[in-house]
Order: sequence, then structure tokens, then C-alpha cells
Amino acid sequence: MKNLHIQTQRLKIRPLLLGDLTDFYTYRSNPEICKYQGFDAMTLPECKAFILENLGKQFGNEDEWVQFGIENTSTKKLIGDCAIKLNQPKTGTAEIGITISQSEQKKGFATEVMRGVLAFLFDQLDVRRVVEIVDVENIASVKLLESIGFRREAHFREHIYFNGKWGSEYQYAMLSWEWKERIT
Ligand SMILES: CC(C)(COP(=O)(O)OP(=O)(O)OC[C@H]1O[C@@H](n2cnc3c(N)ncnc32)[C@H](O)[C@@H]1OP(=O)(O)O)[C@@H](O)C(=O)NCCC(=O)NCCS
Repeated sequence: MKNLHIQTQRLKIRPLLLGDLTDFYTYRSNPEICKYQGFDAMTLPECKAFILENLGKQFGNEDEWVQFGIENTSTKKLIGDCAIKLNQPKTGTAEIGITISQSEQKKGFATEVMRGVLAFLFDQLDVRRVVEIVDVENIASVKLLESIGFRREAHFREHIYFNGKWGSEYQYAMLSWEWKERIT
């Protein structure tokens, strides 16, 4: 498995390090960031434990999320993180989750990360299909996926009990040939 170091126009996607702790805590302690995610706001010790546990993971293990840091190359600051799961090697499927610090949102950073990671997965790792499941109320995420060219292929109505109510989700997907068709 190749190491993940992706360089985009303004960003570097690379392993999440203990030196990122302060920046990581700044946004991961914000409940707004977690509103539609499968994790809660974190304390500083929880952030530290998370980074340490993640450092011990080997990217590419079946069904395991590995978190990478998103660094702004001009400021050298961590502006978010990106989790990747190569969950079904036999079917060549992967999943991606992106979190951008609130103060850095709406600047096109998630779009840049998504394009860089899709190019890496489809062109270098030969992933066949990328799937994304998002809360129907997560407008930013829905807009991000649709602007990149993901296809909405399912609407799961009230199938997940989340934050005290039944929530609905969309499933989006993109196939390798759809990606290649889009960028050529
Ligand atoms: C979803 C998220 C990653 C988007 O990050 P971002 O860097 O702000 O996204 P971008 O600036 O690249 O914008 C992508 C698209 O979403 C739109 N968008 C971003 N934030 C938005 C918001 N709050 N409301 C409406 N649209 C929004 C942008 O206008 C853009 O659409 P366009 O290409 O049609 O102009 C960010 O909002 C986030 O971290 N949310 C919390 C974590 C989360 O829920 N992650 C999703 C789980 S995978």
C-alpha cells in the first residue's frame, strides 16, 4: 500500500501528527462540526488519544477508517482532516469523510481535498467505486458531493436514530469510469 501524501494547489493531505493537536482540538471541540457526523465534540485529552491511536493504524486495512491531516501549505496550519476507508477490497469500494475547521469553510478547501483524494484512489490505487452516505440535512456536504459529480443513488428515509430523532440519509456514489469521463 502506498503512503498517502497528496499535494493539491493550496493543501497537503498527509498523516495526522501529534504536532497537529492544538489545531485539531480547535475545530474538533466545536459541536457544530459534529452535528451530522458519527462522533461527538472532543476534549483535549480525547483529541490526543485519537491522534495517537490513528498513528498506529495501517492505511488499507479492510473496513478501517484512517484519518489524515489537511494542512494549508502557505500557513502550515492544520485546517481539517480527511478519513478514508478502503472498506471492501473485493468490490474495490472506498469511503471518504471530510471535516474542515469552521473558520476555513466555504473557501473551496473540501472541494480541493475531495478532487485530490479521488484522483489518488481512482488513478493510483485502482479503486472502482467511492460511496458517501450523508444526512439529508447536511446541506454543505450534499452541495459538495453534487458539485464534484457524485450520483445520488439512494434515499434512506428515517433509518438511523441520531441526536434524539429518526434521521434520513442519502447515498451518493461515483465509479472510476465516471470520474475519468468527468476529468477528460
Ligand atoms: C461539508 C464540509 C466538509 C464542506 O467544506 P467546505 O470547505 O466549506 O466546502 P467547499 O468550500 O469546498 O464548498 C463545497 C460546496 O458546498 C457549498 N457549501 C459549503 N458550505 C455550505 C453551507 N454551509 N451551506 C450551503 N452550501 C455550502 C459551497 O458553496 C460549494 O458549492 P458550489 O461548488 O456549488 O459553490 C464542511 O461544511 C464541514 O466540515 N462540515 C462539518 C463536517 C461534516 O459534516 N462533514 C461531512 C461528512 S463527510
